[in-house]
Formats: sequence, structure tokens, C-alpha cells
Amino acid sequence: MKKVVPVIILPLLLIVFTFGISAVSGADSNLVSSKCSGCHSLKRICRELGKKDLAGWTQNVKRMVEMGADLNAAEIAEVSKTLSNAKPEGSSFCN
Ligand code: HEC
Repeated sequence: MKKVVPVIILPLLLIVFTFGISAVSGADSNLVSSKCSGCHSLKRICRELGKKDLAGWTQNVKRMVEMGADLNAAEIAEVSKTLSNAKPEGSSFCN
């Protein structure tokens, strides 16, 4: 029995670890898809990628919040950072 436990636990740990990583790397894009697609198409955002810096996106996202987008302060910062670093071709929410 003592030898069986690691054999079960190790692959389990590996699976949890692998899924944990992919969940983290996808989280920012998921936030954009879930918070920013309610009122207009994400194309509207993708058109602007690469044209604004962090300050520009922060201003834009805050304006969306004033219009009713549901983001807290941490999410505003996270989404703005994601968008200022994003490129239209490489962004999962644009495809
Ligand atoms: C409550 C509705 C709503 C949500 C949610 C929303 N938007 Fe908007 N968005 C608008 C409206 C309305 C416009 C067009 C009017 C305007 O530009 O003032 C717009 C326009 C835009 C534009 C076009 C350029 C511009 O400055 O007008 C961008 C870029 C944009 N939104 C990004 C976002 C992002 C990023 C999010 C998620 C954080 C988001 N929007 C969520 C309502 C919303």
C-alpha cells in the first residue's frame, strides 16, 4: 500500500499543476472576453490594439465602467495592462 500512494498522487499533482498554469495564462484574456463583450463586439477592442498605451487603455476602460461595465479596481488595472500589451494577431479574444 505504501508504494501505491505516490503512484496515484504524483500523476494527480502533475495534472493539477498543468491545468493550473494554463488557467493562469488564460485568465487575462478571459476577463476581457467576459467583461467587455456585453455591449459591443470584441472587434471594437481588437481594432484599437497596439494604438493605445497603458494610460490610454486605463482611460478607455474607466470610461466603459462609467457607462456600466462591471469591473472592480483590480480588474480595471488588469484588463488595461492586458490590452496595452496585446496585439491583434496574438490575442485569443480577437480570434
Ligand atoms: C456597459 C456597456 C459597455 C461595456 C460593458 C463595455 N463597453 Fe466599450 N463601449 C461602450 C459604448 C456605448 C461604446 C461607444 C460609445 C463611445 O465610444 O463612447 C464603446 C466603445 C468602445 C471602444 C471604441 C473606442 C472608443 O474609445 O470609443 C473601445 C476600444 C471599447 N469600448 C473598449 C471596451 C473595453 C476594453 C471593455 C471592457 C473593459 C468595454 N469596452 C466594455 C459600452 C460598453
